[in-house]
Amino acid sequence: RTKVTVHALKKMHSDGKPIAMMTAYDYPTAVACERAGVDMVLVGDSLAMVALGHQDTSQVTMDEMMHHSRAVARGTRSAFLVSDLPFGAYHADIGDSVRNAVRMVKEGRAEAVKLEGGRHFVSRVDAIVNSGIPVVGHIGLTPQTAVSLGGFRVQGKSVAAAQHLVDDALALQTAGCFAMVLEAMPSLVAETITRLVSVPTIGIGAGSRTSGQVLVMSDMMGIFDRFTPKFCRRFAELAPQMDAALVQYKTDVRARRFPEEGLHTYAMPAAAEDRWR
Ligand code: KIV
Ligand code: NA
Repeated sequence: RTKVTVHALKKMHSDGKPIAMMTAYDYPTAVACERAGVDMVLVGDSLAMVALGHQDTSQVTMDEMMHHSRAVARGTRSAFLVSDLPFGAYHADIGDSVRNAVRMVKEGRAEAVKLEGGRHFVSRVDAIVNSGIPVVGHIGLTPQTAVSLGGFRVQGKSVAAAQHLVDDALALQTAGCFAMVLEAMPSLVAETITRLVSVPTIGIGAGSRTSGQVLVMSDMMGIFDRFTPKFCRRFAELAPQMDAALVQYKTDVRARRFPEEGLHTYAMPAAAEDRWR
């Protein structure tokens, strides 16, 4: 498979070919995305919740994000690798934002960074893009600031709120985002934004008319124990399979049915065994 680049993503967009983005958090999940031919792999800060067990994404650090990003990079070949800048990494000032974006590329081995926020973040997006790092925007439900949004809830349901989202999208495009994630908003609003901007929109809970889709892998695989958002389809139910395997393992160890002599074991050469006995 040929390497997915910013240019290749632009081409998919202009050809009207939907872009499939998926989150990955470590080497095996990255390799799985790669084998499936996913176009974009996202090291989402959702890993704070689904991989690290935090209640929300606000506590994950740059160092933790880079640690996961490096692991994903080792498993990613053709897919285009985007890593989230965590809460705090681009909020203080522009210098900080650029430094952290550069670290995510140099130490985290990301090809692009994603950050949450619309028109209030154009100065950051602009500075990072001008430092030579592609930026993916993220508007609508922005989990890092879910507290101030009043929880994990759909955005842009009123005409005024929808207009704000359109303004955010246009501002992000002007600032130089090469793509933007639209999270949890009415399909009609996402469709309007997709029509108004010239860069691909990647939807999650934003309907079927965006330029692409993204899901959190743990949600779509059925391995996150807390909740599955309405917009997620469970493409697999891995948790029951994992539970069954672990219970079977424990049972077989207790019953000395595992390991099986001759099957999972090593033997000495016959001569050595004779002398040993
Ligand atoms: O952190 C994440 O997984 C994300 C996607 C849901 C877009 O930002
Ligand atoms: Na995220």
